[in-house]
Amino acid sequence: MRPRSQLFAVKPVDVLLAELAGDHRLRRVLGPVQLTALGVGAIIGAGIFVLTGLAAHDKAGPGLILSFVVAGIGCALAGLCYAEFASMVPVAGSAYTYAYATLGELFAWIIGWDLVLEYAVASSTVAHGWSHYFLSFLAIFDIRLPERWTATPIDIDPTSHLWAATGSYCNLPAALVVLLISIVLVVGIRESASFNAAMVVLKLIVVLLVIGLGSAYIRPENWRPFLPYGWGGVLKGASYVFFAYIGFDSVSTHAEEARNPQRDVPIGIIASLALCTVLYILVAAVLTGMVPYTQINIDAPVAGAFATRGLRVAVFFISLGAVVGITSVLLVLLLSQARVLLAMARDGLIPRDFFGAVHPRFRTPHKATILTGVLVATVAALFPLRILAELVNIGTLMAFVIVCAAVMVMRRTNPQLPRPFRTPFVPAVPVLGMAMNFWMMCGLGWENWTRLFVWLAVGLVIYFGYGRQRSTMARALAAELAASGASPAGRLGPA
Ligand code: ALA
Repeated sequence: MRPRSQLFAVKPVDVLLAELAGDHRLRRVLGPVQLTALGVGAIIGAGIFVLTGLAAHDKAGPGLILSFVVAGIGCALAGLCYAEFASMVPVAGSAYTYAYATLGELFAWIIGWDLVLEYAVASSTVAHGWSHYFLSFLAIFDIRLPERWTATPIDIDPTSHLWAATGSYCNLPAALVVLLISIVLVVGIRESASFNAAMVVLKLIVVLLVIGLGSAYIRPENWRPFLPYGWGGVLKGASYVFFAYIGFDSVSTHAEEARNPQRDVPIGIIASLALCTVLYILVAAVLTGMVPYTQINIDAPVAGAFATRGLRVAVFFISLGAVVGITSVLLVLLLSQARVLLAMARDGLIPRDFFGAVHPRFRTPHKATILTGVLVATVAALFPLRILAELVNIGTLMAFVIVCAAVMVMRRTNPQLPRPFRTPFVPAVPVLGMAMNFWMMCGLGWENWTRLFVWLAVGLVIYFGYGRQRSTMARALAAELAASGASPAGRLGPA
């Protein structure tokens, strides 16, 4: 028998499903409504409440409305591909697991490492957004925290594009909120899901208030010119506000905790994404209709738009809703990160004893959660929002491109597998999904591509230095080789 190459060896779906029966699995407590709520909980946050300001002001103008349409279509196409996988392989690792089942260990590692960008670095970004609205909320009561403790010590100079010291110490509120949420997560998924559901309801009420009340204050002349930065601006805006959609895929990381994952996870992904797309387009229309795009506030744009019209009570509710709403995003993103790490640890790609440990009483991956919380809090305290947001976007877009490709690969390599949810119009939907998401990656500029490559290079060093030798796949292949009589020396390293 010709030995398989470890780098491209896939993990068969029946092995993945068999693992589900093992010990130390997570509790199956989530139904379709809770899964959709987790999706909405992860989606509506810093993107719509904070990033829309800069996107309208500097990138797209009122064309931001179209940016949301473009980004929404890209996500919908990827979402349909995620849904097929989530129904077929309902285990905790999301895109990481799908890549392992289709494209092999190396791609799985790349995606898993990339998901750290999506979840952990996004959590740091979201924590920044949270601190913006927290400060704006405190300002309503004339409470102002010292700037040295609410801004990052370094930032990028927007004109020279060079890093510069700001004189501040750190963004302390951003770091503290991350640590607090990590503690909630260690206590358990059931508690976190109900906590999340309450926050989601409040956030939806606030978004509906923004749309309902704000539409009465629209001045259509603010929409003219509609595309001050041209179609290029619409693309740049889409690549930036894409951040606002991130999170729908996190529903798939909860597949293992779903009561009926084959049916409910696709429902959770598609329902949460569809709902948020509609709301975003309406919020963008209201925001750019209320305030000329050149005057949109960059730190807290939605509350700022209502403040310019003297709607003080609305500003109070919007700031409160944003603080609470963004908290729920943090909750889901941090929760998802720990679960992806858990899946990678089970495969031996990162230290199993640490990242794979499930707390005996709470049944949550407590060590991974605490370590993630500390690292995310540190990054949030030190690095500026804009840089983090763009890095997250390019990494997540890449994951989406790979998941779309993986659906087509899986249809060829495993046509017989039951697919309770099938991506419609294959190959058109995945091909268009790859094209749209790659197009948005192109809107992010060379600095972000460079950062992405550096990130991936660091990941590859870790893989070749650690995971490749210690993965479960390496052991299985070593056993295969031994059975075939060949020597594993020099190919797989110590297992
Ligand atoms: N979509 C999430 C947010 O906007 C990450 O905060």
